[in-house]
Amino acid sequence: MAHSAPVIPQSNIPLSVASLPTDAAIRFETPSFAEIFNVEPVATSHNLSTLNIFSQDALRALAEKYQANPQDAFVASSAPSANADFNSVPHGQHAPHVAMTLLDEQPYRVLLKRPEKYDADFRELIHTILQCISDARGGFGREKVVRLESSVFITSAKSTTPIHFDPEIGFFCQIAGEKIYHVYPPANVTEPELEPFYIKSSVEIGKVDVNRRDPAREHVFHLSAGKGLHQPQNAPHWVETCSSQSISYSVVLETDATRSLGRTRAFNHYVRMAGLAPSTPGEHPAADALKANAMNAILPMRKLAGKVVRGVRGQH
Ligand SMILES: [Fe+2]
Repeated sequence: MAHSAPVIPQSNIPLSVASLPTDAAIRFETPSFAEIFNVEPVATSHNLSTLNIFSQDALRALAEKYQANPQDAFVASSAPSANADFNSVPHGQHAPHVAMTLLDEQPYRVLLKRPEKYDADFRELIHTILQCISDARGGFGREKVVRLESSVFITSAKSTTPIHFDPEIGFFCQIAGEKIYHVYPPANVTEPELEPFYIKSSVEIGKVDVNRRDPAREHVFHLSAGKGLHQPQNAPHWVETCSSQSISYSVVLETDATRSLGRTRAFNHYVRMAGLAPSTPGEHPAADALKANAMNAILPMRKLAGKVVRGVRGQH
């Protein structure tokens, strides 16, 4: 895969003020972004906070568009702790535009998914951000981006989002207020923890136990307007807001390679269920590809998995 030469962090040079989505820029605070892309969390800075699409009026108007599309919004209470089960936290109490009027009264978390479906400026923004990411990484080489989505998070003060991981590569930008973002590298999650998640066909949230994470590997980002982070796929994270409301924006993507890796893990789940110890993805790329292709097929998974287990025996 072609990567450009390492770039020097430019944190001393101010980013230009963005008034249009096409002016948006993310800067990665490392001289070696191409090497740590999707491996280690890293701080970013950005100029998105000055965009009009994140003003209170614009966000209220955006939230109202979700009345006809409730499946693209999520309203939840604050979690009681970082280790709370994600789905056990009360949610769905209000429509997002209503919850936004109650943020000072109760700790709510409002998530507006895929705003690019509802607003042309958000469509411009997500493609501008993808170009920044691609430039910093030196392009995607032969990898194809197969899913690109953004989200807006509007959150009460003193709210907690419990620990989980997401099956996508993330770029998180703090727009207003402050957040403390706790994140562990994906290498801090075991293969048996990851595999069951990937046997599901839909993109959901992965659950992990905060007590099983290595505290020495925790990255803590103190985010305010203009700051952000790159979050690798499967990186466990939990987030807390501070003494004021918070607005955040994130862009996530999947590539054909990251999807294929997920299918390999799904296959490995069945190998493990059969009492065998599968190889870690990456150790045997040919076997990884065979496993991923097997999971891509329409044939019954268990029957096919058994067949391919026999085929790759000795390589896993
Ligand atoms: Fe997340």
